[in-house]
Amino acid sequence: MVNKQSLEIFRGKRVLVTGDTGFKGSWLCLWLHQLGAQVYGYALPPKNEDDHFNLLGLNNLIEHVTGDIRDLAAVKAAFDKFQPEVLFHLAAQPLVRFSYAEPKLTFDTNVAGSVNILEAARQCESLKAVVIVTSDKCYRNNEWVWGYRENDELGGHDPYSASKAAAELVFSSYQDSFFHARPGFGAATVRAGNVIGGGDWAADRIVPDAIRALRNGEEIFLRNPNSTRPWQHVLEPLSGYLLVAANLLQDPKCYSGAWNFGPNAQSIRTVKDLAEMIVAAWGSGRVESAPQHNAPHEANLLHLNCDKAHQLLHWQPKWEVARAIGETVAWYRGVHQGQNALEISSRQITQYMES
Ligand SMILES: NC(=O)c1ccc[n+]([C@@H]2O[C@H](COP(=O)([O-])OP(=O)(O)OC[C@H]3O[C@@H](n4cnc5c(N)ncnc54)[C@H](O)[C@@H]3O)[C@@H](O)[C@H]2O)c1
Repeated sequence: MVNKQSLEIFRGKRVLVTGDTGFKGSWLCLWLHQLGAQVYGYALPPKNEDDHFNLLGLNNLIEHVTGDIRDLAAVKAAFDKFQPEVLFHLAAQPLVRFSYAEPKLTFDTNVAGSVNILEAARQCESLKAVVIVTSDKCYRNNEWVWGYRENDELGGHDPYSASKAAAELVFSSYQDSFFHARPGFGAATVRAGNVIGGGDWAADRIVPDAIRALRNGEEIFLRNPNSTRPWQHVLEPLSGYLLVAANLLQDPKCYSGAWNFGPNAQSIRTVKDLAEMIVAAWGSGRVESAPQHNAPHEANLLHLNCDKAHQLLHWQPKWEVARAIGETVAWYRGVHQGQNALEISSRQITQYMES
């Protein structure tokens, strides 16, 4: 169960987060900062002025170093400087459609970049717990109705999905060859699906696309209206990542390995359902289906079986899809109306922990 007590272990811990300038990384850093951790970030610079990292003023709350994970010397220098006890690796090229345009960049970042992070981790004596973020898309997708389990076959049709499956294999090799035998050291990969929440401005994602359209008074056009996704608020998988790391610090061997974090069945909805719920929460707007028949392949049906996290970590999702959408729209509306993003995000983290 995630609450303040179960995460108390992070107080005073030196925690390195790669990808801190991104959507999920910025939320994770703020949460760790609230828990009293000493947080260090390593990533490329934020892309836009209104990125969550900038709106939070995260630069003032954590120590951020701008760097590329494809540069092993720079990665090692950051580990040497920070001497982290805990590592969360989130830096990645995270977009399926962009991966069709830039397959090499995607593999270089998500596979070779992850090798560099694991290599630096292998040589970093202060480290005790490592959490590598991959994706639910790392599984070979058979478009079947059952949820994927951690021991199901890896695969990936598009370059992004394949790069995340490859990162899993790289991790597995480092785990078996080096980490497994290291005393007092635990390492895990974490696999989650589509997350929503305030502060995401990525192209080709349904929530940022919808919010942009609503703010401009335009219709929301849906490429894949009938695709089914396991929607969850960004704080849900992050709570799982934190719980895994907290458990790795206490019993590294027992909690090492792969973990799925997905929502319950009622939060598995079509893209069209989600868009209509966003419009209802915003209070105005229109949804239009505009399927692209020559669009690159994207998975239609994909969800996770999370029995392992439920049973062994006692992790459960807290915010079902309606609450997740409500909190997300409230965040964007608040910021649109001039409210302070740091206050909104901090309040949502506190409310999540108290839920
Ligand atoms: N957002 C989702 O729905 C989702 C779903 C499943 C998995 N994930 C995974 O979660 C992680 C974070 O995703 P996100 O949505 O926050 O993405 P994002 O695009 O918002 O953030 C990506 C981060 O990675 C950094 N980065 C990219 N290339 C880099 C490089 N070469 N060197 C250093 N830093 C680099 C960026 O600067 C940024 O900080 C990724 O690993 C992604 O694959 C995301």
